[in-house]
Amino acid sequence: MQTWAIANQKGGVGKTTTTVALGSLLAAAGERTLLIDMDPHASLSGYIGVEGGTHGSVYDLFGTSGNAIPLPVRTLVHATRWDRLSVLPASAAMITLDRQLGTRAGQGLVLSQALAELAPDFDHVLLDCPPTLGVLMVNALAASDRLVVPTQTEALALAGLERMLRSLSMIERSRGRPLPRTIVPTLYDARTHASRACLAQLREQYGDSVSEAVIPTDTQIREASAAGIPLASWPAAKRGGMAYRQLLDELRLPAREASVASSARDAAA
Ligand SMILES: Nc1ncnc2c1ncn2[C@@H]1O[C@H](COP(=O)(O)OP(=O)(O)OP(=O)(O)O)[C@@H](O)[C@H]1O
Ligand SMILES: [Mg+2]
Repeated sequence: MQTWAIANQKGGVGKTTTTVALGSLLAAAGERTLLIDMDPHASLSGYIGVEGGTHGSVYDLFGTSGNAIPLPVRTLVHATRWDRLSVLPASAAMITLDRQLGTRAGQGLVLSQALAELAPDFDHVLLDCPPTLGVLMVNALAASDRLVVPTQTEALALAGLERMLRSLSMIERSRGRPLPRTIVPTLYDARTHASRACLAQLREQYGDSVSEAVIPTDTQIREASAAGIPLASWPAAKRGGMAYRQLLDELRLPAREASVASSARDAAA
């Protein structure tokens, strides 16, 4: 099971859109995919149409004072209308987790432990993170094999990216192993100087960490989200769909290379 966190400490950069787009493309490609909404604002849950307020949410994985016994993770996972695409929703109560848990030890690995139980059921897990560094983000980064950082191609977004990468270094030190990252330029409009200049700066500053795929501003992406339909089932989003397909191919490359290398090792043995 591969787990990717989709995170950036800036709001409105395309985290939720990217999570749903990649998840729906993975599911359409035959992978059993779980989307987890780690954001108390619950945009992903709303998009997919599974509300955590009524179904239980990520909140219930934590043993907080108001809810002393965490719920088993399988009871919180719901199928969606789309084949092989499941969701573990968010709820507004999650906003209180930082206050309730404070610095209580052991709370950073709650999600990792829950995902270990789900490993036989899913090939892929995508975590839609909140734009703040707190117990939810720490859990997401601790549980992930890869970090995807959607970054809006505009000057102000670079500061958010810097903050995100600083948090990442801190978390890498505490987890004791590196977390590979891919910075994904989003909301790109080739007609504007601001977009072009920002993309050039991203490539110059972060080199190979920036994906080749660039996600264009595509009004059909907004239409799909307003209609509650994931990108893989919204053919009108041609430019956006193509860009997210290219991104998924790039992100899956390291896993494929690892599996080719291990088959080569097996063949040689
Ligand atoms: N490539 C795109 N083209 C057009 N609209 C987009 C694109 N990506 C995202 N949007 C729209 O921009 C808005 C913000 O996107 P999204 O909700 O994915 O960002 P976010 O980073 O998850 O925001 P938040 O920090 O609030 O959770 C949404 O209305 C979404 O439909
Ligand atoms: Mg979001």
